[in-house]
Amino acid sequence: MTDAPLVLGIETSCDETGVGIVRGHTLLADAVASSVDEHARFGGVVPEVASRAHLEAMVPTIERACETAGIRPSDVDAVAVTSGPGLAGALLVGVAAAKALALGLDKPLYGVNHLAAHVAVDQLEHGALPEPCVAMLVSGGHSSLLRVTDVTGADGGVDPMGATIDDAAGEAFDKVARLLGLPFPGGPHIDRAARAGSSVLIDFPRGLTSRRDLERHRFDFSFSGLKTAVARWVEARERSGEPVPVADVAASFQEAVCDVLVRKALDAASSEGIEDLLIGGGVAANSRLRHLAEERAAKLGIRVRVPRPGLCTDNGAMVAALGAEMVARGRTPSALDLPADSSLPVTEVLA
Ligand code: KG4
Ligand code: ZN
Repeated sequence: MTDAPLVLGIETSCDETGVGIVRGHTLLADAVASSVDEHARFGGVVPEVASRAHLEAMVPTIERACETAGIRPSDVDAVAVTSGPGLAGALLVGVAAAKALALGLDKPLYGVNHLAAHVAVDQLEHGALPEPCVAMLVSGGHSSLLRVTDVTGADGGVDPMGATIDDAAGEAFDKVARLLGLPFPGGPHIDRAARAGSSVLIDFPRGLTSRRDLERHRFDFSFSGLKTAVARWVEARERSGEPVPVADVAASFQEAVCDVLVRKALDAASSEGIEDLLIGGGVAANSRLRHLAEERAAKLGIRVRVPRPGLCTDNGAMVAALGAEMVARGRTPSALDLPADSSLPVTEVLA
């Protein structure tokens, strides 16, 4: 597909400086520079530190991506950038860089939504998105269930069915990891520790799954009660002077999160008569989530698509993938005075 649009995408909504280059659905380069090590000792991302790291990493990361793809910046047909949601200062760095590039190259600019980009990235691995599909987005900042009829957002193409009412799924992983003395970000460490533990040893609560909760919050999530339950359990152990079985707590906690996520995602798809479920965002890298989703979906005749772990966590390829879709579907580019919007709603896919 040499005539498909060549798009460079820039992602700076959190602590990853990502620059991806795609041609249509083909990934040509995915350069990521992360400042995660600079945040680890604080136990969370420090916005000022992230913004500064983006500034330093931006130009070298663009150069690295172009080199890997074997292209010159002037070859690109369009520049795409995450315009929100995310950390305001961090977003600004990416948006300013994308504007400079688009203006300098005289190419169209597409300011796109980070959340829809987590969905669009799957096209790079599994080909054209099935539309309609239900997309479950689970990351450090978001947990939502979306009905997707057009990933570029045209005509209400990204429609929220439910979302977390408190902590995001990734946030719960990070907080519980901290409780267990595991490093930040906690998701991958819990995933690893859980492999040696029992997922049924501790029966942690499944948020918003009681019959009463389902009446009002059928497709919503809540993870703060679960996090508190884990904290109480660990405290009780420590008080009694017994060692904390880290692997068992990790496995039982992970099971509680994945059980609820998969249950609700499959219920959302079934309720809409939709046969494709897509899972995206950093938590979609979780091995248990992937396994459980596939196992239960197969019984219902629902197909599951999950990008490979490297494409689930924040990267520039996802932004380029969504940008390429904007070009392919003839969407009008963004204005050059495009703002960074830290609370861009999920329904606004093109800013
Ligand atoms: O999508 P992402 O890279 O950034 C945001 O947009 O938030 O997601 C980061 C989140 C973190 O909370 C991290 O702990 C979690 O994704 N995560 C995982 C795994 N890998 C990353 N959570 C569970 N299991 C994993 N393997
Ligand atoms: Zn993300």
